[in-house]
Amino acid sequence: MSIPFIDLKTQYRRVATEVEQGIQAVLASGAYINGPAVARLEERLAGYCGTRFAVGCASGTDALMMALMALKVGPGDAVFCPPFTFMATAEVVALLGATPVFVDVDPATCNIDPAQLKKAVRAVRSGDASLHPLPQHAGKLTPKAVIPVDLFGLLADYQAILPVAAEHGLFVIEDAAQAFGATVALPGEPSGAARRACSFGQIGCTSFFPAKPLGCYGDGGMCFTDDPELLELLRSIRVHGQGREKYDNVRLGITGRLDTIQAAVLLAKFEIFEDEVRLRQDVAARYAELLGALPGLTLPAVPGGHVSVYAQYCILAESSAHRQELLDRLTKAGVPSSIYYPKPLHLQPAFANLGYQPGSMPVSEALAARIFSIPMHPYLTVETQQEIVNALAG
Ligand SMILES: Cc1ncc(COP(=O)(O)O)c(C=O)c1O
Repeated sequence: MSIPFIDLKTQYRRVATEVEQGIQAVLASGAYINGPAVARLEERLAGYCGTRFAVGCASGTDALMMALMALKVGPGDAVFCPPFTFMATAEVVALLGATPVFVDVDPATCNIDPAQLKKAVRAVRSGDASLHPLPQHAGKLTPKAVIPVDLFGLLADYQAILPVAAEHGLFVIEDAAQAFGATVALPGEPSGAARRACSFGQIGCTSFFPAKPLGCYGDGGMCFTDDPELLELLRSIRVHGQGREKYDNVRLGITGRLDTIQAAVLLAKFEIFEDEVRLRQDVAARYAELLGALPGLTLPAVPGGHVSVYAQYCILAESSAHRQELLDRLTKAGVPSSIYYPKPLHLQPAFANLGYQPGSMPVSEALAARIFSIPMHPYLTVETQQEIVNALAG
């Protein structure tokens, strides 16, 4: 039997009855757009993440786009983000006419490096690219926002990022597309108290793409905020800048709604989500044990106090050639693998106009050359994990 990279079929068997009942209820209700399941989901997930409000939307990309629009990010604004991420993080910045300023990542966590962020903000303010590599841009940029990404299911270092953002007046938009459910224990809080993904910064954003830790059966996303004004703006932007009346358009917006059917799917799947996060910890612990015996592999780092949801299980090989050898072994044994991400965004043709050169983000470039992912999902058995590790061992 072939090994799935992410086993959505086993998960579906577990929730089939509830999902089908939820979908049937939407079908029977006729409320396909903005039906009651959307508001129910928003309330449940805001409560889970510890934010006051949530706004369901059509994808993780739309969530980021709506967040930037609500914060009035546009031409002339610098938005700091890591280059070692999925395209959408920086794409939305450029789509709105603002300029992505790439900030290299920490080699252990793969998340944005707060020390580099500080340098990048100073470089933009002074226009001095000797402090930190800057994008080509006619005229001066205004530092406006930072989009830390909680890559592969691990929260970025908000304890270090939030003070830098506060010092420089930057909005923080959390890209938690890969990290719904991730937590970090707060120092000074009673033990057990933890803060969840989507609750950092002015607006937290996530994706419900099927392969994400909490996924639906199509596209979906959500914005989270504590600010009632931002809530109103996000709701308006979600529907073409709607004002008080249906055909009152008070600003530009998008068609950014979450389908009611997808909200019903998510409500059903959310019932097993916490259990799945626990199962992911078991799977990761088993991988750590089994892979620890193999030489030359660097396993995912999870700093103290953090719980990762392991959206991907990413390993670093010693070199690009070593990675190729390992990938060939996996392919030969019929084990699926993937590379997140083979090319950092600053070197993508889509961002060629920014003028970044190879060597400008050395950590991201080194990670891109060595990283690869093996199957990861809550339903991986110890036998399958052993098979995967045997394949890697060659
Ligand atoms: C880090 C990151 N940001 C944003 C997105 C965009 O989410 P969506 O595919 O739902 O638009 C993704 C999706 O893969 C992602 O991984």
